[in-house]
This record gives sequence, structure tokens and C-alpha cells, in this order.
Amino acid sequence: MTTSSAPGKIILFGEHAVVYGRPALAVPVTEVQATATIRPGAGPGIWIEAPDIGLHSELSRLPADHPLAAAVHGVFAALSPSLHVGRTEGVIIHIASTIPVASGLGSGAAVSVAVIRALSAHLRRPLPDERVSALAYEVEKLHHGTPSGIDNTVITYAKPVYFMKGQPVETFQVGAPFTLLIGDTGIPAPTKESVAAVRKLWEADKSRWEKIFDEIGEIARNAREKIVNGEWKKLGSLMNANHALLRQLTVSSPELDRLVEAGLRSGALGAKMSGGGRGGNMIALVERKNAPAVAEALKSAGARRTIVTQVR
Ligand code: PMV
Repeated sequence: MTTSSAPGKIILFGEHAVVYGRPALAVPVTEVQATATIRPGAGPGIWIEAPDIGLHSELSRLPADHPLAAAVHGVFAALSPSLHVGRTEGVIIHIASTIPVASGLGSGAAVSVAVIRALSAHLRRPLPDERVSALAYEVEKLHHGTPSGIDNTVITYAKPVYFMKGQPVETFQVGAPFTLLIGDTGIPAPTKESVAAVRKLWEADKSRWEKIFDEIGEIARNAREKIVNGEWKKLGSLMNANHALLRQLTVSSPELDRLVEAGLRSGALGAKMSGGGRGGNMIALVERKNAPAVAEALKSAGARRTIVTQVR
């Protein structure tokens, strides 16, 4: 039996601008995770079991663009020609996840990474991180069209990541652990749509929005420094500034703004929406002892769920 787990993720700074080549920061959320377990099957064939989504199917019955099928085929393609999907002994791939789906916590990428790692290890050909991340990126494309690649990167490396499209991965150390509260509006918001909305704005007035992307990129660069040095008050201010720019980009929403304000009023050092926006999650930087009070305030302001995470 081979098991592999991958964490969730949250974007701290730079969403949307990252699509236009600016840097973004994201961290793993280790309090939630996806786990893939591979067992030898009783007979031939590759079976996929994901009870959380009511899936129990042989690989060949799933459409090729099903994300789980794509992850499995990706592993075999990477290991070919020495291994072939039709010539392998039967296996059962069991998937379980505590990462809320479609809420900007990277559940899709985490499932892909867990499956790719567990399966390649089971086949005695464990893939290096670079390959794992690249394969998970191919699966991400099926979900999102043109993802920047930040999800598969931070989840594969399971470390804080300073991400720039097309650049080598830069992980970094935080100066001291810090606490984030993630507040979920409960409003499903497809990232594809908010990314397309920003694209429309940009096409209508490139110079205006390029300036905003520059400002966001500058914030992400500064934020990395504050995290490395443990300057939490300054980090909080940068979150507020990034949120204001995301509002200008029209990707916030009244519900997100309400949670951000409630966080700040109840003692957070900074707060902003996170990810695609127009729903989904926001984050608040809090002192650990204040986390319960801020979580209560977020719930009163409409948060469906809160997650406290320690970034280290
Ligand atoms: O909603 P999330 O957490 O998947 O993040 C989307 C981040 C964007 O920058 C808006 C898109 C991307 O591909 O990076």
C-alpha cells in the first residue's frame, strides 16, 4: 500500500496580476489535505474510488478529460515506454480529501499531486517534484483553461512560494510562524469567470490596468520581505492595500468586503480577498490569541466557514 498526502493552499498576495506576469505569494494550508492511497487490486484494471464525490469507476470508463483520469494517464505517459497503463497489475486508487472544493483552497491540484505521487511511488518510479508539479499543471488546465500554475507549485513544494509565471520556483522561509484566518463567503465563484472579466477590462484600457498590476506586483515583492523579517503590522497594511486594488479590478464583492471589514474591526492586522474573488475566500492576518474572536466576527458577518492556519 502506498499513501501520499498534499496540503491545500491559499494565495496571500498578487492574484490576477500574476496572470499578467507579476509576482504572487501563496502558502500551503496544512490543516486540510488530500490523500491518495494505492492498493493492489483483486483483479486487473485500474480502479478509482473517491467516495466523497460518489465515484467508483474503472479508469477506462472515465472520459479522458476527467481530472482524475488525466492525472493517472499523465503518470503513465511520464513513465512510458517502460510502463504502460494496459500492462500494469490491477490497482485501486482511493482518494479522500478534507479540502473544501471550489473555494480557492486548491482542492483539485492537491488531489492531483497526491495521486501522481502515490501512483508513481507505487509503480516504484517516484517522480521528482518538478515533474509532479508539471503533471498537476496539465490537469489544472482542464479545470481552469489558462491557470498561472501557482496552485500546483505551492501544493507540490508544500512551502511558501514566491511565484512568477515562467520563472524557476522560489520557495522561502517565514521569519516566524504567523496565523491566518480564512473566511469563506460560501458563494461559489468560478476563477475562470473573474479571470475573463479582468481580461476584458485590460483589453479595453491596457495602460490603466498595467499600472494596477505593477502596484500589486510591488506589494507582493514587499510582502515577501515583511514575511521573512516577521514585520506583521506592515504585512497587514500591505494586505489592505492589495485588497483596495482588487476592488478596483472589480473582483471583490459586497460579501467579501463585509468579511474584510469585520476582520479589521475585530482586531485583524490586515485582511483581503484571496484567489479569483467575487465569492470564495478572504484572509485575515491575526495574532494567534485573537483568532477565535476574529473567527466569531467573520461568522456574524456572514462567513459560512472559517479555517485557522499557522504559516510556518
Ligand atoms: O481562486 P484561486 O485560489 O484558484 O486563485 C486564482 C488566482 C488567479 O490569479 C486569479 C488566477 C491564476 O491562475 O493565478
